[in-house]
Amino acid sequence: MNIKGRHYRTIWLKENNPETVQIINQLALPFKFEILDLRTCEDTANAIRDMYVRGAGLIGATAAYGMYLTSLVSGDESFNDNLKCAALLLKNTRPTASNLAWAVDRMYSMLSCHTGTPAQKREAARFEARAIADEDADFCRRIGQHGLEIIKKISQKKQGREVNILTHCNAGWLAFVDYGSALSPVYAAHDGGIKVHVWVDETRPRNQGASLTAWELAQHGVSHDLIPDNAGGHLMQHEMVDLVITGADRVTRQGDAANKIGTYLKALAAKENNVPFYVALPSSTFDFKMKDGVKEIPIEERDSSEVRYITGITKEGKTETVRICPEATSARNWGFDVTPAKLITGLVSERGTCEACEKGILSLYPEKD
Ligand code: MRU
Repeated sequence: MNIKGRHYRTIWLKENNPETVQIINQLALPFKFEILDLRTCEDTANAIRDMYVRGAGLIGATAAYGMYLTSLVSGDESFNDNLKCAALLLKNTRPTASNLAWAVDRMYSMLSCHTGTPAQKREAARFEARAIADEDADFCRRIGQHGLEIIKKISQKKQGREVNILTHCNAGWLAFVDYGSALSPVYAAHDGGIKVHVWVDETRPRNQGASLTAWELAQHGVSHDLIPDNAGGHLMQHEMVDLVITGADRVTRQGDAANKIGTYLKALAAKENNVPFYVALPSSTFDFKMKDGVKEIPIEERDSSEVRYITGITKEGKTETVRICPEATSARNWGFDVTPAKLITGLVSERGTCEACEKGILSLYPEKD
């Protein structure tokens, strides 16, 4: 996507130095646009764990580049052992999004049976990591085209009046390599001249909506308003939401979707108010081995300091972190929740739109039957 007229992806290899991976530092947004270098697999693991990069697709692509960086420092003897250690390190960073383990496994299975010299394996690792990143961007672009049809229909029904879309967390291009999942249809609609307006949930406790979604929508010139997380139900009761689109971190075979904590409550409110609720995802987010999402999807619990403290910018432009509760108050911090398939109107993937149920999903992915 473009920032001040220049195209950026969220991750890439440094120009003239393909042994360094570069990322946009998402911890600095929206106050500062900063690019960081990652030189080792540990750097990529730390960037994922500490959320310099985040979002299902982007942590997958970052992990793939982590495997590539491991290949650069591995000789013939140690090649597969090093890859195994790197895979373990990377997979242990964040448990919920399937894309991460999927990308690591794809790199490992290709490289561990490669019979070439170490130099050839490194070349293959670079090629595969780049292919994973390119595929993520292309799949998200296609999600945009399929999701656009949903927005178009609502716009026609409203005779061209503004379509109000509510989204939770950040499932825009910052959460992937480019385009995004939930926001890709919004960008496609905006670019196609359809009037859209986005209600952006702030997404406590890390405020990905406030700091990232609001920032990227503004970069693209899409009309939006930031709302408190608990405002969605009220807006739906007053017919101020035409459509909810969220992303997902893992979607099971029967269509249950894990996404940022708070998504489930939005889905309940949408059902009660007859507002269509769509989940957008590339195929790397499906977990075809799991069925019951509530029982089976591992939910990351993060440090309680993310709930007890909040970070922002002062009038003087200084970034500061302040405590918002009594000093002795303890807190719990689950990063995700699961929306059962019965609350989801449809899933939008790079292959099209389907019902959130095994039959619907398999109609798009018959090879998984
Ligand atoms: O904890 P994060 O910011 O990595 O959260 C993951 C997400 O980006 C969201 O849950 C998102 O809606 C899923 S789509 C990438």
